Amino acid sequence: MSKGKVLLVLFKGGQHAIEQKKLLGCVENELGIRKYIESKGYELVTTIDKDGPNSVVEKEIEDAEIVITTPFYPAYISKERIAKAKNLKLCVTAGVGSDHVDLNAANEKKITVAEVTGSNVVSVAEHAMMTILNLVRNFPSAHELALKGNWDIAAAARDEYDLENKVVGTVGAGRIGFRILERLVAFNPKKLYYYDYQELPKEAVEKINAASRLLNGKDLVLERVEKLENMVSKCDVVTINCPLHENTIGLFDKKLISHMKDGSWLVNTARGAICNAKDVNDAVKSGKLLGYGGDVWYPQPPGPDHPWLDLTRPNGFSGNAMTQHISGASIDSEIRYSEGTKDILESYFSKKFDYRPQDLIVYDGDYATRSYGERK
Ligand code: NAI
Repeated sequence: MSKGKVLLVLFKGGQHAIEQKKLLGCVENELGIRKYIESKGYELVTTIDKDGPNSVVEKEIEDAEIVITTPFYPAYISKERIAKAKNLKLCVTAGVGSDHVDLNAANEKKITVAEVTGSNVVSVAEHAMMTILNLVRNFPSAHELALKGNWDIAAAARDEYDLENKVVGTVGAGRIGFRILERLVAFNPKKLYYYDYQELPKEAVEKINAASRLLNGKDLVLERVEKLENMVSKCDVVTINCPLHENTIGLFDKKLISHMKDGSWLVNTARGAICNAKDVNDAVKSGKLLGYGGDVWYPQPPGPDHPWLDLTRPNGFSGNAMTQHISGASIDSEIRYSEGTKDILESYFSKKFDYRPQDLIVYDGDYATRSYGERK
């Protein structure tokens, strides 16, 4: 007789899981925590079957005590699922970003939601930098042309720029947003902006300036902007790095995009639903945006008609720098978030509940972080 049930929802690894044992985030390798969970007297149910009324998640949620899922292949723990989860005490996000859980519903039932804060923030910052460079340097079109064997420099060069001397702004200057700002300094931008309701500490701003003095021989002046419309209207590149919550869902829609500079680039490695998919598609197709890129979609996986499968510019070339949701799923990240998940479980199983404060999203019926919206 087990003490309780742990439901673990992960993506399918298939042959890759056999060939790459470090691919911990897949259903075959189970974050490397099966033995640990069983040693605590709990039953572990692992599945990829997460959506729909007949799915394993729908059935097992009814008596699971703990649910563990990743943002890459999220089991949506909706209000309805929470209502019928009679034993649910803890939802763990193996990674960062817990918007797949209905946080208000979790609060109502005093379910703890915890994530492995910081586990993949460098990985995402690197991916965002890669995407910014891909778009500004026009890599998607240039790569396509090169593979076709058409030697047509003009076709690629017509939309290719340098990142140097460009204006870049981030929506959200938390762990990822700030790391992107730090990395951008090396490219000698004209100016950096951030939009966030939490002000960066003075030392953080000084760190950026010191790096700029060292690398570029000038103070960069990283400026906080009060109105998002103002920031996007000044930027050549906008990068989105805030969580998905009530105030950010559909934030980048036709209206906000209309304030962006003509021919600018938009990068989103935060959450797909922060952007209106159709409006972004229209913006690239009309030439308002020169390109869009990132790794996050809504829903995940996206259906065959998702507007971001085709982001073609009016000139017929690709303005598409999308990947699947992989930025925070590097092997290095997977090792970190697997270990962090085990630490969260240990706090729970030991009944010490000595979680790292930064890992807690909702706890004891309230929000434990300011990242998911401005709250009193
Ligand atoms: P963080 O909590 O360190 O920073 C988030 C920042 O966003 C905070 O400073 C917060 O004040 C700000 N923010 C919240 N709402 C805002 C709004 N309406 N406007 C402007 N700023 C707002 O979180 P971190 O680690 O930087 O991660 C940010 C998000 O990135 C996660 O919530 C997740 O959705 C996403 N993410 C994506 C990954 C991927 O694999 N693509 C992996 C990790 C995180």
